[in-house]
Amino acid sequence: MDAARPGRPEWRTRLFSGAGGVAVSAFPAVDPIPLPAPVWLFKALHIVTLALHFISVELLLGGLLVATWLNLSGTGRRGDPAGVLRLTASAALARRLPIVMTYVINLGVPPLLFAQVLYGRALYTSSVLIGVYWIAVVFLLMACYWLLYRFAAGAEAGRAVWWQGLLAWLIAGAIARIYSTNMTLMLRPEVWPQMYANSAGGLHLPPYDPTLLPRWVFMLIGGFWVAGLWMIWLAGRKSLEAPVRDYLAASGGRLAAIMVPVQAGVAFLVLSAQPEIVRRGLSGEPLYRLAGLGWIAAVALAFLFAAWAWRTKPATRAAGWVSAALVLAAMLAMTTYRDGLRDVTLAGKGFFDEPTQVVTNWSVVGLFLGVFVVGLGGVAWLISVMMRAKPVAERLAR
Ligand code: HEM
Repeated sequence: MDAARPGRPEWRTRLFSGAGGVAVSAFPAVDPIPLPAPVWLFKALHIVTLALHFISVELLLGGLLVATWLNLSGTGRRGDPAGVLRLTASAALARRLPIVMTYVINLGVPPLLFAQVLYGRALYTSSVLIGVYWIAVVFLLMACYWLLYRFAAGAEAGRAVWWQGLLAWLIAGAIARIYSTNMTLMLRPEVWPQMYANSAGGLHLPPYDPTLLPRWVFMLIGGFWVAGLWMIWLAGRKSLEAPVRDYLAASGGRLAAIMVPVQAGVAFLVLSAQPEIVRRGLSGEPLYRLAGLGWIAAVALAFLFAAWAWRTKPATRAAGWVSAALVLAAMLAMTTYRDGLRDVTLAGKGFFDEPTQVVTNWSVVGLFLGVFVVGLGGVAWLISVMMRAKPVAERLAR
């Protein structure tokens, strides 16, 4: 491998110089078993399923914190109608959070499989290096899930359970932090040998990385505006009483209108923390440029829509669908851009120097796509049944 090739970052020669100044790569060799489908297909499936995972993650992180805050502020004013309104809105969000968690997990598995197929040499290595934290996700997830059920039951009864919600949020935030740590460590082969030399036990976290904190905060902040649009969606539900729906629409609109610009600010920090070569690589690729512009357009529309909802309190199904479409568009664009960030970074570090073998098994691919479409049809039918169901009034169980 020639680290001195033009366009290759200079540090690579420095950091990967083996004996006699010969550049060596920290990436393990390419798997001799070829990929069974084209890379573009894996990539498309990866981006779509990961965007859906991110939507669920943002609903969980944002919805949980909003429900926690509404429970805290509502229980402080039990006697007054504004307090009851907040407690009812908190319960409306809280009772849906265990369901959101099922989506977080089930929509996390497909992109994990696709990421391992496409980036296994980097992702397995970083996962092993922080193995104890990575495995800890399973147990943190169980604790978070259990707390979500406790919180939902307490919130539906109008009890002061904000501390359970807060604890669940802190655990979910810690899981997000571990994911961000792994997804950034997989891009840093230059630190792997030293980390492994320090400890093979998977107990040490990576050395300082300026890209990690903004990236994690970006995901945490995104939860707020996504939760705001989720509240507008809930405002369209007939199962809730009119004052609760108005409250959800107005406060959801306000939350999203305030937090979209904050996330845009953090997006700027995420980008400025990247090395110059990565930023240039991203702006030089038409697909990533389009994804970046697409994200800006989607969040700008989300901001305008949220500001409108703040003022007009639209308690309608249509407003809910607009919210859903905006979140989906923003997440698809962000996930595509994020994918570019990874590919450009890895390309600069020689990840793609060894080509991956592809031997497409079209009959299996066809079967997979057929089952996939049938599955989507099944889910669409289930959703349509749910939407047509007679609504059951949602009140505090007191
Ligand atoms: C409370 C639970 C969870 C939270 C809060 C969470 C949060 C996150 C966050 C913040 C990221 C982005 C990290 C970054 O790039 O900086 C991420 C990525 C990811 N998560 Fe989750 N996650 C959760 C559970 C799961 C589960 C259970 C799975 C799989 C079984 C999963 C699969 C993934 C995958 C595969 C990625 C990144 C894939 C890629 O970069 O290609 N997540 N998650």
